[in-house]
Amino acid sequence: MDKVFIVANLKSYKNQQEAQEWLYSLRTNNSKIDFTKKEVIICPPFQLLADFSSFIKTNNLPFKLGAQNVSPFPEGAYTGEINAKQLKDYCEYVIIGHSERRQYFKEDDEMLKTKVQQSWSKGVIPIFCVQNENNPIPDEVSIVAYEPVFAIGSGTPDTPENAEMVARSIKEKKENIKVLYGGSIDSLNVKNFTSSSNLGGVLVGSASLDPLEFIRISENA
Ligand code: PGA
Repeated sequence: MDKVFIVANLKSYKNQQEAQEWLYSLRTNNSKIDFTKKEVIICPPFQLLADFSSFIKTNNLPFKLGAQNVSPFPEGAYTGEINAKQLKDYCEYVIIGHSERRQYFKEDDEMLKTKVQQSWSKGVIPIFCVQNENNPIPDEVSIVAYEPVFAIGSGTPDTPENAEMVARSIKEKKENIKVLYGGSIDSLNVKNFTSSSNLGGVLVGSASLDPLEFIRISENA
């Protein structure tokens, strides 16, 4: 069965201590999430990936891991970069092309395509963010997250009807693609999106910082 995807983007939040508290809460409170129907993916900042990975393994938790970014280069002399081969040690997924990367780090379509190819070549699955139905989507992409900029962190999500329309038009252009919605998702509005026939899940930013709210979102999705 095609699972509903729930992706937590923890952005550049949480140090080790805060992350540990978040994980303890997730471990204690996840029993009502139906993991047979849901793929719940946590994307912590790079410095926490190893900790998250070992915590998930040690406690035998059914959560998956993703990164929030990847180098456009393979391994080599690229100071400060983390490449796809390195991510593969911890992650099944990687978010590519988030609007904050496009805006603050000037990542353009060409670079994003290279990042997708790098990830794909190492078996890390891209979750590719677009702001509208016209953003180019590289060929290798099988999961897209539609994230209109006005909805990110604003508390005002897009309407489920419009998100559904955008998802449909992405799917018309590209077969066998899963489209998620992201932007001001919380536990009260999530079902309005995941019940749309063209939406296969959600990408959650702010609301995922509170572990209990993230669990409610995962239950309600
Ligand atoms: P938000 O962020 O849930 O805080 O709106 C979503 C995102 O940036 O992926």
